[in-house]
Amino acid sequence: MSHSYQSAPASFKYSDPPNSKWTFGQKIEATPEGREWMEGSKEGWKTVDATTEDARQLYGLLVSGIAPRPIAFVSTISEDGVENLAPYSWFNQVSAFPPVLSISCTRSVDLTRIKDTLRNIKTTKGFTVNIISEPWIAHANVCSIDAPEDIGEWLLSGLTKEPSVHVKAPRVKESAFSMECELLQTIDIPDPATSIVATTLVLGSIKYIHVRNDVLNERGMVDPAKFKPVARLGGTLYARIAEGYHLDRHTWKEHETRIRELAGADSSDE
Ligand SMILES: Cc1cc2nc3c(=O)[nH]c(=O)nc-3n(C[C@H](O)[C@H](O)[C@H](O)COP(=O)(O)O)c2cc1C
Repeated sequence: MSHSYQSAPASFKYSDPPNSKWTFGQKIEATPEGREWMEGSKEGWKTVDATTEDARQLYGLLVSGIAPRPIAFVSTISEDGVENLAPYSWFNQVSAFPPVLSISCTRSVDLTRIKDTLRNIKTTKGFTVNIISEPWIAHANVCSIDAPEDIGEWLLSGLTKEPSVHVKAPRVKESAFSMECELLQTIDIPDPATSIVATTLVLGSIKYIHVRNDVLNERGMVDPAKFKPVARLGGTLYARIAEGYHLDRHTWKEHETRIRELAGADSSDE
C-alpha cells in the first residue's frame, strides 16, 4: 500500500485546553462537545476476553488502543562489533530518580528468534535510545526491515553514527535527544497459560543525555515545536504533534473552599 506524503504543518501552535471552564464535579454533559462524545456510548461496548481473543485481533486492538506511543530508536552493538539500529514503541520512561527507561522486545512469530537488539543488550549491556523527529522518520522506519543479517541498518537508513561517551553503541547524530543507557534488568514475560516466553522487558539506566541546544527552551525543557517528536498509533499509522495546550495542576490549598462546598452539598442530598 502506498501512502501520499503531506508536508508537516509550518509550525506548532498552542491553543486553549478543551473545556477550559470546567469546574469540580461538573458532568461531561455540561458542554456540547461532552454531550456529543457521550452520544457515542449509545452504541454500547464490545468487551474482549484478552485470554481467548485471536492473537492478531488482540495485537491490533492493543496497539491502536494504547496510543499514541513514543518510539525508542535503539542503537546496539554485538559482542563481535556489529552495529544494529531498530525502532521500538513498547517503550517508556519508568522513572526520573533514578533515570530509567523500558523497552519491550518480542520474539519472532515462531518464538525461535530473539531480536538483535535484545541479544546485543544482554551481551554488551550498553545501548542508546534516540528519539525520532519528523524530518527523519523515513530513515528510522526502514530499520525495522526484515533484511538478512549482513545488511546493516545504519547504511540503509543514511543516518550518521556519533560516538557515545559511556557505551560502545553509537548514538544517532540526527536525533535531537539521545540517551546512553546501561542494562539494569531484563524481565522475561511468560504467557500465563503456557509459560512460554514471547517477550522480554528491558530496563535501562540512563547514564548520559545528549540534547540539541536548539530544541531546549529557557527552562531547560524540550520544546515540542522545535523537537517535532513522532508518535506511533496502531499498525503503520504515525502522528505528528501539531498543537498543544497547558492544563494547570489543581492544588488543595487553592480550591479547598469550593471542594468542601461541593462535598457538603453532596452529603446533604443523601
Ligand atoms: C515504529 C516501530 C515500532 C516497533 N516497536 C517494537 C516494539 O516495541 N517491540 C518489538 O519487539 N518490535 C517492535 N518493532 C519491530 C522491530 O523494530 C523489528 O522487529 C526490527 O526488525 C527488530 O530489529 P532487531 O532484530 O535488529 O532488533 C517496531 C517496529 C516499528 C516500525
